[in-house]
Amino acid sequence: MSILDLFLTLDRAGPGDVESLRWALDVAGTPPGARVLDAGCGTGADTGDLLAAIPEAQVTALDAAEPFVSVVRTKFPAARAVEGDMRHPPSGPWDLIWSAGAVYNIGVTEALNAWRPHLAPGGRVAFSDLRWTTDTPAEGAVAHWAGEGLTLTGAEALEAEITAAGWRVIGARWIGRAGWANYYDPLEAMLADEKDTALVEAFRAEIACWKLYGDSYDYRLVVVEPV
Ligand SMILES: C[S@@+](CC[C@H](N)C(=O)[O-])C[C@H]1O[C@@H](n2cnc3c(N)ncnc32)[C@H](O)[C@@H]1O
Repeated sequence: MSILDLFLTLDRAGPGDVESLRWALDVAGTPPGARVLDAGCGTGADTGDLLAAIPEAQVTALDAAEPFVSVVRTKFPAARAVEGDMRHPPSGPWDLIWSAGAVYNIGVTEALNAWRPHLAPGGRVAFSDLRWTTDTPAEGAVAHWAGEGLTLTGAEALEAEITAAGWRVIGARWIGRAGWANYYDPLEAMLADEKDTALVEAFRAEIACWKLYGDSYDYRLVVVEPV
């Protein structure tokens, strides 16, 4: 089973929930009828909630993986689902660019630079990114993420990167454990029925790491605007 196959039947490919999404919409002041881009939408973890939470929203869901785009097209016919690279998003303009757990693919600075010209006046970006929650993360967590090729930093480093790119943080919070459970519970149930391939073992190890050391890291959800 490939990573694509694994996530095709799951609703989420990263932590998040409707409560934190609604918080972001509130902070961003996303108006009724907003033009929203869900950048790196996966199988539409948040596409339906964006449609439901914003009256008369016009939601475009964008992902580089065509099979995910197909799933979104079927699941959420009220959204426009397009295959493409978030470095070159559909032109918009967008009142909100939402991106859950996907910005790391290109990096925060590159994403913000790419998206700036596509925002409507007063438009905002909300995205989540994996960060340490503490200056002293558990050694087991450091080792796990290093093994995945990731050297994490904290919330302050994220804010500094956003500021250096010429943006202002207007709200920030952690996703929290409910958002992780929302992602990991169905994934763990699915893995229980799978053969012990390297991919399956890797995700089991990731979930085990979170159960042990999940207090050391979380997704930072930020709402930002260009300065
Ligand atoms: C961790 S998943 C998160 C998906 C979804 N937002 C969620 O929370 O379930 C990251 C997604 O980003 C997509 N992706 C990776 N690089 C991309 C790019 N350059 N442009 C658009 N999508 C990309 C992947 O195909 C994947 O669906």
